[in-house]
Amino acid sequence: MNSYPKIIVSPPGPKARELVVRDERFVSPSYTRYYPLVVESATDCIVKDVDGNEYIDLNSGIACMNVGNTHPRVVEAIKGQCDRFLHYSNTDFYYKEVITLAEKLAGIVPGEFEKKTYFGNSGTEAVEAAIKLARWHTRKPQFIGFIDAFHGRTMGSLAFTASKPAQRRHFSPFMPGVAHVPYPNCYRCPFKLEKPECNYWCADFIDEQVLQKYMPAEDVAAILFEPIQGEGGYIVPPDEFFQKLKKIADKYGLLLIDDEVQSGIGRTGKWFAIEHWGVEPDIVCSSKALASGLPIGATIANAKIMDWTSGSHASTFGGNPLSCAAANAVLDIIKEQQLLDNANKQGTFAMKRLNELKETNSTVGDVRGKGLMIGVELVEDKETKKPSHQKAVEVMLRSWKRGVAVVTCGVSTLRIVPPLTIQTDMLGAALDIVEDTINEVAKQK
Ligand SMILES: Cc1ncc(COP(=O)(O)O)c(C=O)c1O
Repeated sequence: MNSYPKIIVSPPGPKARELVVRDERFVSPSYTRYYPLVVESATDCIVKDVDGNEYIDLNSGIACMNVGNTHPRVVEAIKGQCDRFLHYSNTDFYYKEVITLAEKLAGIVPGEFEKKTYFGNSGTEAVEAAIKLARWHTRKPQFIGFIDAFHGRTMGSLAFTASKPAQRRHFSPFMPGVAHVPYPNCYRCPFKLEKPECNYWCADFIDEQVLQKYMPAEDVAAILFEPIQGEGGYIVPPDEFFQKLKKIADKYGLLLIDDEVQSGIGRTGKWFAIEHWGVEPDIVCSSKALASGLPIGATIANAKIMDWTSGSHASTFGGNPLSCAAANAVLDIIKEQQLLDNANKQGTFAMKRLNELKETNSTVGDVRGKGLMIGVELVEDKETKKPSHQKAVEVMLRSWKRGVAVVTCGVSTLRIVPPLTIQTDMLGAALDIVEDTINEVAKQK
């Protein structure tokens, strides 16, 4: 019998309920809370709530805790840094934590060229910096982005974000100059085509219908993409898509900006998800898992492209020493604990189980992912593929009540993103519960 998960009070328990009432009174209602999980503590793959329930963590604080929650070496690095100094503005002075991190990132970001890193405080800031850098370097104003993308919520990145109307409602006008094109999604092809007959029209469309028809390539700075769409529903592009995109970018001299905020730092079994396609982007955005929960954003670019000059871009707290100390520890831990290998091993295990479930279960429409970035899309009917938002929400809530913290993305996709440290027995125990609830919910009308 497993000792996890451990549900001692049906969640939300009394302490959680009381805190949620206070939250509703004083905290911004703009957040997207999935369910009233009120966290008391978290260690490795277990999250404990304020009422003493212990959940297996399939969320990782939304793809942030890749090395496990509260990794002792990360905590030690932060504490050690606290004893030395907390802040001294990397914008204006120097310290070694930033320099060491930039060196380490240059070593793991794909691309056989010199790289430089700009540091901010979040994913959206990493994307903002990439947008500004692309404009600075190319002196061109326009961009191509993708429908269903999520790149953040500040005004530059929001101009690209396009996965839910709520993200953009009442916030226009957005930064001008962004053309949105359909993202390659073979389960629900936006062009209603099938592979291989489609011949990658999703890529050629960008060339033939956008660049040749209305967006003069000489005005376009870059194409911004997620290598696997995250908030949009864990959508994995087909094998040759990014090679084709790279050819188009090379043909017209456009930069490729790869947003790895959710998919990077080992999540997919490689340091960065784009490595699965063997394409070298010009600019890579990282955040989330990089500092294991401390705020950081990193925009890593080919050194020839990062040619902006002093005063052109900066932020007071960007590259703050606590976050950099944590990030330096994270990158060491991933290497030393061989977490890329474990992400591949556990991801293969989970995909096999979930694909087996798909064979027998009438509501599992698609299972997709790489490493431990896995999406399970629920549908009303496998023939029509009508998404079942309600069933996905139901599975999420029932799983949580039984001790598995898991959330959704897109319209009806369960997202499975445990810490990369998870072992088969615990992942198996979590999947037992998730699969059970999917089976229960599938039987409902
Ligand atoms: C791919 C991607 N880019 C950017 C962001 C924005 O990051 P942040 O919420 O730290 O601003 C996110 C957040 O989920 C993301 O998934």
